[in-house]
Amino acid sequence: MATYTENDRGHGENNTTDHFRDQFKRYKRRRPPPDLSDVIDFDRANDFESQVEDFKLTEPTGFEKVPEGLIDVRLWKAYQLRSNPGFLFISNPFMQGSQRYWVRRCLRDYPVKPNYTNLDIHLTLTEEDNIWKDDSLESSNPFPKGSLLSHLRWATLGYHYEWNNRVYFEDKVSEFPSDLSHLTRYVAAALGYPCFCPQSGIVNFYNMESTLCGHTDHSEYDKRAPLISYSFGQSAIFLIGGVTKEVCPVALYLRSGDICVMMEEARLAYHAVPRILSAEAHRFTQAFHLPDTRSESAGATKHGALKGKTESRFPSDPVVDSNCDKEGLNNSEVHSNSDKNSEKHDFSSSVKRDDWERYEHYMKSSRINVNVRQVLQHGQTFPKQEVETEPISR
Ligand code: OGA
Ligand code: MN
Repeated sequence: MATYTENDRGHGENNTTDHFRDQFKRYKRRRPPPDLSDVIDFDRANDFESQVEDFKLTEPTGFEKVPEGLIDVRLWKAYQLRSNPGFLFISNPFMQGSQRYWVRRCLRDYPVKPNYTNLDIHLTLTEEDNIWKDDSLESSNPFPKGSLLSHLRWATLGYHYEWNNRVYFEDKVSEFPSDLSHLTRYVAAALGYPCFCPQSGIVNFYNMESTLCGHTDHSEYDKRAPLISYSFGQSAIFLIGGVTKEVCPVALYLRSGDICVMMEEARLAYHAVPRILSAEAHRFTQAFHLPDTRSESAGATKHGALKGKTESRFPSDPVVDSNCDKEGLNNSEVHSNSDKNSEKHDFSSSVKRDDWERYEHYMKSSRINVNVRQVLQHGQTFPKQEVETEPISR
C-alpha cells in the first residue's frame, strides 16, 4: 500500500486530468452523500451485464484437503470486468459463520510478534501482552485517548513490507501463516495459478471513517503473480483504474467474504478504498453468525451450514501441486509446511469459541482487508543490495 499525495488542481504531472482523484473525492464525500447507483454490485451481477461477465474457475487439483469453511468450489461465483481485464472478483465463497475463523486470526494472532504492526513504534505486542489485554499495558499505554485496538491500522506477515522505503528485505521475514497460505493457494489454483506462493501479507484494519488513497502495488519482484485480497466485516467501495491516474476508475462494492484479485493487465493498476459502508444485516449474519444447528443441512445450500460434527482441521501440511516443485521454489523461509501453532487454530472449535463476542463487537464498526502477495518469482532470490558487492577473486 502506498499513499498518493493529492494535488489541489486535480492535475497530475504533464497537466493531465487526474480522473482517479476525482472519483476518489466523489465517493469519499459525506455531504451531500454520493450517488451510488453507478457502483457495480456483484450481488446483482445481472443488472450490470454491460460491465460484468462471468469468469470460469478451475477446480483445484493436488490438494490433500480443501480449506475448511469454504463452500464447494463448483458453486463459487466469479466475475471479471470488461473495462479492466485481469481484475477478478469472487463473490463470498465462505460458509455461514466461518469468517469468524479469519477475523479471530487477524485480530488475535496476526498482530503479535514476530509480525509487525503500526503499534510497534510504541510497544511490542506478544501473545501474552496483546491488544485485547489493554490493562496489562496500562501504565505504559501510549494512547490515552483510546484502546490499543482502536489504533491498530495494519499488521504484516511473511516478508514484512517496509512502508518507509517501500521494499521487502530478505532478512525481515517471519513464517507465513500456514492456514492463510493454504486458503490462498487454493483460491489461486481456482483462478488458474496452481503455483502461487503466498510470501507476504498486509492486514489492513479500517474503521467507518478510514480510506485508502489511490496507489499501485509495485514493490514485489514478481509482478506476474496475482494480488489476492480478502474482505471481512463492514463493506467498502473499491475503485479500480488503469496504470495511470488519467484512467477513470470504476467503483464496486466489496462485502464481507468477497475476494478480489488483480492480475495480468490489472496487476499494476491504480486502486483505492474511498469509503467504508455499513454492511447489510444479512451479509453480517452470513459472515459471523453460526447457523442454527437444528436446521443444519450439512453444507448442501449455496452458503451451506458449517458441518457441526466435523473433526477435520486445517492441514498443517498443505500439499502443493507437484508441478510447482519442478520450478524450484526457493522460498523455504516463508513457505510454511508446518505451523507449530496449528493445533491452536482448529477450525471448528475456533468458530465456536465463546470469546467471539468481543471480535463481533469490533467488526460491527470495522472492516478487515487481508492482502496476500508473492514477492519473488519461483527460483528467484532477493537482488543483492549495493553495499554487499562481492569481493573480486583473482
Ligand atoms: C492494499 C489494498 C485494498 C482493500 O492494502 O494495498 O489495496 O480492499 N487494500 O482494503
Ligand atoms: Mn493495494
